[in-house]
Amino acid sequence: MDFILEIRDVTKTFPGTVANDDVSLNVRRGEVHALVGENGAGKTTLMNILYGLVRPDSGRIVLRGADLPLKQGFLGTDYGIGMIHQHFMLIREFTVLENIILGAEPTRGPVLDRAGARRKVEDLIARYGIEVDLERKVRDLSVGEAQRVEMLKVLYRNADIIIMDEPTGVLTPQEACGLFATMRGLVADGRTVIFITHKLGEVMDVSDTVTVMRHGRVVGDMPVGETDVARLAELMVGRRLDAPPRRSGSSFGAPVLRVDHVRLEARPGVKPLEDVCLEVREGEVLGLCGVEGNGQFELFEILIGLRRPSAGSVVVRGVDVTRRSPAARREAGLAFIPPDRTTMGLIAEFSLRENLLLGRQGDRRFSRMGFLDGEAIAEETSRLVGEFGIAPPDPDARGYSFSGGNQQKIVVARELARDPEVLVACQPTRGVDIGATRLIHTFILGQADGGKGVLLISADLAEVLSLSDRIGVMYRGAVVGVLDRGDATEEKLGLMMAGVAD
Ligand SMILES: Nc1ncnc2c1ncn2[C@@H]1O[C@H](COP(=O)(O)OP(=O)(O)OP(=O)(O)O)[C@@H](O)[C@H]1O
Ligand SMILES: [Mg+2]
Repeated sequence: MDFILEIRDVTKTFPGTVANDDVSLNVRRGEVHALVGENGAGKTTLMNILYGLVRPDSGRIVLRGADLPLKQGFLGTDYGIGMIHQHFMLIREFTVLENIILGAEPTRGPVLDRAGARRKVEDLIARYGIEVDLERKVRDLSVGEAQRVEMLKVLYRNADIIIMDEPTGVLTPQEACGLFATMRGLVADGRTVIFITHKLGEVMDVSDTVTVMRHGRVVGDMPVGETDVARLAELMVGRRLDAPPRRSGSSFGAPVLRVDHVRLEARPGVKPLEDVCLEVREGEVLGLCGVEGNGQFELFEILIGLRRPSAGSVVVRGVDVTRRSPAARREAGLAFIPPDRTTMGLIAEFSLRENLLLGRQGDRRFSRMGFLDGEAIAEETSRLVGEFGIAPPDPDARGYSFSGGNQQKIVVARELARDPEVLVACQPTRGVDIGATRLIHTFILGQADGGKGVLLISADLAEVLSLSDRIGVMYRGAVVGVLDRGDATEEKLGLMMAGVAD
């Protein structure tokens, strides 16, 4: 069997954690190879080793029959390995084309051959159906478009092994379909794709082979034709999963959150929000979906208090909070799970204990006469770590040292611990594994069953459909319709999201 890539006995330890424990993995040329596993299983670490961002303690990697020199200074890019990270490394003020060629500018003699570069990029765009406007500034792109720029950047540098670490977490269902088509095109051309995801349906749809990791080890490796979602899930978690949680009650009370004719004019002529009206009642989960860029994130910023609307108001239990600070809103009973944990949810240099306490330092439970109560904080930390399965359970571990999914669990645990009157949750399970997703869903439904309100903003239609009592759709800065759960289907919502029907 000819493998383009053979990872052999790779081990990597961080203080207190064995991230990769004697990992071996073979990848064939021209396949989509999925890599799955629970949060913290070691997927990103392994790919970072291959890409040259992390040095292994021991082990070898053989690429096209030759050992990679995994020493100081090793760069995957020099060996045709490209990686598309969850967090993009683009320059906002540059155009798409400038970003793609940056650092790899083609020259003709001493002059920059911009036309030649453009031709090469246009060829790639046509060949793989990666749609993006080369002249736009990166700051004006949606996340999905920015990801396509990263893809072009990698291809422009002639990568023939392309690593994608949870690329679909930030994509809408339509964008994910486009990405899968591109992935299949890449492998049809003889390139190789390594694809990390938590969505096992995607594994089945787009991959040829799947490797399952658990606790730093490889626990399974098979052609996707020989497995299914349930078996993969069991292999990942090491046990049978509970059934997904279901809503028990559905009696609603008074409105707890009202958004009244909110408008936002960001720049003259640019109106991310036209006229948004919403109401969340006691005991209700209101889902809000939409293709990214239709105003949902601006609405989130207005709700949390990072932006002032140009007109309209936000009312919590009858109290107008439109002009209040984020802290005052939290006091009024709101809690927030932000769309981006790294910029809004966590402080990378803070410890787990501090991150779990963030925004609650003044809480009477944790401070006495101006002094923090170390014992109460330690108790709360260990309670949340246990309930949400945050790993590693070390209260002193810094935010940056947690895997992506565990960072997300920290944010969710902290916000739910406030037992808010209204929870505003934006993509709450982004990057979170199946087990933890079920857990977070259970907690969200628990809020509603306990008579609290939840506004769930998510592009994940399956998630919105399974949790919401009513579902609103945002399109071009307005809520174009609200459906009862019983009337909503993925198809109907999809059409409304595209502005086709209401
Ligand atoms: N820089 C670091 N310092 C300390 N520990 C780290 C560091 N990077 C990763 N780890 C630890 O290594 C383990 C594996 O993390 P990794 O990011 O590879 O997991 P993952 O499988 O990608 O998880 P996720 O699905 O949540 O992204 C985790 O326990 C994590 O806390
Ligand atoms: Mg990861």
